Amino acid sequence: MRQRFFYLFVLATLLVSCSGGKVKYRIGISQCSADIWRDKQNAELRMGAYFHDNVELKFAAAYDSDERQVEQIDSLVNDGIDLLIVAPNQVQTISPAIDRAYDKGIPVIVFERKTSSQKHTAFISADNYEMGRVMGEYIVSRLHGQGNVLEIKGLEGSSPAIERHNGFMDAMKDTPDIKIVGSLQGDWTEPTAYETTKQWLTNNKDVRVDLVFGANDRTAMGARKALGDGVLYCGIDGLPGENGGIQLVRDSLLDASYIYPTHGDQIIELAVNILEGKPYEKETMLMSALVTRDNAKVLLMQSEELMRQADRLDQLHNKANNYLHELDTQRIVNWLAVGVIILLLVVFVLFYLYHLKKINIQRERVVNTLWNLKPEDIPVSLKQTENMESAAISDETEEKEPVAVSQFISRFKEVIEARLEEREVSVEDLAADMNLSRVQLYRKVKSVTGSSPVELLRTARLNRAYHILLTTDKSVSEVAYAVGFTAPSYFTKCFKEEYGMVPGDVRKS
Ligand code: FRU
Repeated sequence: MRQRFFYLFVLATLLVSCSGGKVKYRIGISQCSADIWRDKQNAELRMGAYFHDNVELKFAAAYDSDERQVEQIDSLVNDGIDLLIVAPNQVQTISPAIDRAYDKGIPVIVFERKTSSQKHTAFISADNYEMGRVMGEYIVSRLHGQGNVLEIKGLEGSSPAIERHNGFMDAMKDTPDIKIVGSLQGDWTEPTAYETTKQWLTNNKDVRVDLVFGANDRTAMGARKALGDGVLYCGIDGLPGENGGIQLVRDSLLDASYIYPTHGDQIIELAVNILEGKPYEKETMLMSALVTRDNAKVLLMQSEELMRQADRLDQLHNKANNYLHELDTQRIVNWLAVGVIILLLVVFVLFYLYHLKKINIQRERVVNTLWNLKPEDIPVSLKQTENMESAAISDETEEKEPVAVSQFISRFKEVIEARLEEREVSVEDLAADMNLSRVQLYRKVKSVTGSSPVELLRTARLNRAYHILLTTDKSVSEVAYAVGFTAPSYFTKCFKEEYGMVPGDVRKS
């Protein structure tokens, strides 16, 4: 029984797990760094995955280390990912690892930063050259074509740093009165920008700086820490939210920024299209926009609203997830309940069949009782016993076998049947009718039939009762009295012992 329950449970669990969502695609995401820009993008990537039940994301962040990113990409590939999304820290250094993944047949989406290799399935980014150029043009107009600009570049060897610098320099080309007083090497982080600027300042005490162009907002803010107020600061990223570029512009800590779109959900859509063999763009350029004092307030309001909606979506997703879990549990409980009901039904049917069989066996027993046996059917062992016994008891039974036994039984049957309806018949009465003593009758009957005279009398009464029940409409009480029982309840008890069923069952079967 316990085993049956176990199998039922396994079946229910299997059914539930089969009906639930199954992960089909494992997407590895290799981020070159970890910062607020990447945090926002990772949240969007997760949100994008909410819309695809069959997608699982595996994140890795290299914290600006080439070696770590190469290791992480290799390990994602070894883990059996189906697609790689990667923002390579630097152009040259990460390419071999990306190539290895691509050569293994894993589709690769390079996003935001470029590699030196062409081995990727799709590329998605904003135009970093254009960003640098537009920011350069803004700076020219902001300075009315005149002034000293300090540039702090992004991480050396990373494509956005190179392209933003190139765009910026191209915008400066035709403005002889704007002087680039320094082009410092940063690495996208605020502390490095602060240290580098401070260092530059010690060597250029007398140089006036009108504006700093940081390759990103964090870099611009690092320079601000070193140079303080009285200088204009421009950066790139234009993130929404607390301490994001848009707020910094609104609060006049930055003069301008440029929205560097994250679009994580769009990257997931692209990935799923590739995995599902649907049409997709090999190269996607994301739209972007300049953030200045003129639009910062509106942009901030809009972005805050968007973030609020995204937050609600996140909450909804968690709620839906909880419901799904509850549903799964409910489903298991339901299947178990169905299992238990089926089991009970089976047990009931088996019990009923067993009961019917028992009744039939009992009925056969009745038909085949000793009373109905013909002399030739009496077992040999009984005949021999009878032979020995009869020699010791009476001349009447010393006749030849098996006639003697058969005659004795027939005679005894007649004696019993004649007194069947009497309520108070003793063994002495029966013995007297058989012309034997009580002891003689007992020994003879026992040796021939295996039962005592009283037992045979009771069996005969019950047999008769069984017959009356089958052939007449008499009530159980009437039948009980008709076969010499003084109390119907005792009759029922004896009947049940003999046939394994109550008298009423005879009519039902
Ligand atoms: C985030 C970041 C951004 C920058 C971009 C360049 O990791 O440093 O601040 O715009 O990467 O790839």
